Amino acid sequence: MSKSDDVLYMRRCLELAAHGAGSVNPNPMVGSVIVSNGEIIGEGFHQKFGGPHAEVNAVASVANEALFPHSTLYVNLEPCSHFGKTPPCTDLIIEKGIPRVVIGCRDPHDAVAGKGTAKLIATGIAVTEGVLEAECKKLNEAFIKSHTAGLPFVALKLAETLDGKIATSHGASKWITGEPARGEVHRLRSIYDAVIISEATIRADDALLTVRHCSGRNPLRVVLDRQLNAPLTAKIFGSEAETLLFASSLSSGSPKVEQLRQIGVTVLFVNEHAEKLDLLEVLLELHKRHILSVMVEGGSRLSASFIRENLVDKIYMFIAPKLFGGDGLSAFAPLGITLPLDAVNLQFEAPRFFGNDLLLEAYLRK
Ligand SMILES: NC(=O)c1ccc[n+]([C@@H]2O[C@H](COP(=O)([O-])OP(=O)(O)OC[C@H]3O[C@@H](n4cnc5c(N)ncnc54)[C@H](OP(=O)(O)O)[C@@H]3O)[C@@H](O)[C@H]2O)c1
Ligand SMILES: [Zn+2]
Repeated sequence: MSKSDDVLYMRRCLELAAHGAGSVNPNPMVGSVIVSNGEIIGEGFHQKFGGPHAEVNAVASVANEALFPHSTLYVNLEPCSHFGKTPPCTDLIIEKGIPRVVIGCRDPHDAVAGKGTAKLIATGIAVTEGVLEAECKKLNEAFIKSHTAGLPFVALKLAETLDGKIATSHGASKWITGEPARGEVHRLRSIYDAVIISEATIRADDALLTVRHCSGRNPLRVVLDRQLNAPLTAKIFGSEAETLLFASSLSSGSPKVEQLRQIGVTVLFVNEHAEKLDLLEVLLELHKRHILSVMVEGGSRLSASFIRENLVDKIYMFIAPKLFGGDGLSAFAPLGITLPLDAVNLQFEAPRFFGNDLLLEAYLRK
């Protein structure tokens, strides 16, 4: 099998794996392909949390079992070697007599982390690692961050005009971008585990934060409301999706806590520092609740706070071909919150258009 064939089949694994987006969390997205004599004889992906792993589905799809000893199994993430919700995939590969395994990237999960690869090698299987490694790591960036940093992957999503304004001087921000860009935001919501919004933005926009312009599951909606200012009638407190509200521990005695709980909102308390909720504490609590990724749909101050606290991994900036001028609200230039004096350096991805709006994606360099 040539190196370019390995790349080709790994690309197919990535394509298959991506079908699990939004359904497998907090598990990783994994796809697997089995190839014999230059032909794909089986494929599968991890479809649902708790369900069979990609390798199991790929093995089960092979019609002619006699081909296993003459085949190569491709998988974008190191096969598991421990008993989780399902038995170890390494044992299945060994049992079927598959002589070669090609792996995209290592699994950072403590129970695997190199042990899967070591087990395969120990039984004489030829293992090739690191094929399309960067792409494989990117597909599971949230899973990897969660297991290596003990925190969710954090993306900021903002929509701004060409002159860098995220709201008019009257505070309206709902209609900056057009329908196709809003569709992409809904798709992002369907793959992020949670979205975070502030009480200030709820009061300005009364957004639902559900997935409506595409199919997919709703994210957990997380409201940051230090002093319990959001009205009980806000759309975000409706029953379409789950809502978690973080307030300051100083607000724990308020009668509104019980009222929120009665309408189905989970209320949690975290510390505040200098009249700001501790964002790290919020993220740690979400991590404890198996949230791998969050998209912050905040305004200027909340976005700036996340950047200043060095908690952001990625920014989605939708840019609309409009000018708001005047004293509209600038992204990241908020009242009383200054960014670090050194520049915050980012790395752009290829830009994409959604209708007339441009999406710039950028990773923060840490
Ligand atoms: N175009 C867009 O992409 C977009 C997106 C969202 C919102 N907006 C617009 O942005 C405006 C609101 O922006 P904003 O800057 O006033 O508010 P914001 O950034 O949405 O949020 C600030 C709010 O977050 C709370 N908060 C809790 N913890 C915080 C922390 N650690 N750091 C900072 N804030 C924290 C603050 O409450 P305390 O003050 O009690 O701490 C305050 O209510 C609205 O006009 C909205 O329409 C635009
Ligand atoms: Zn497995």
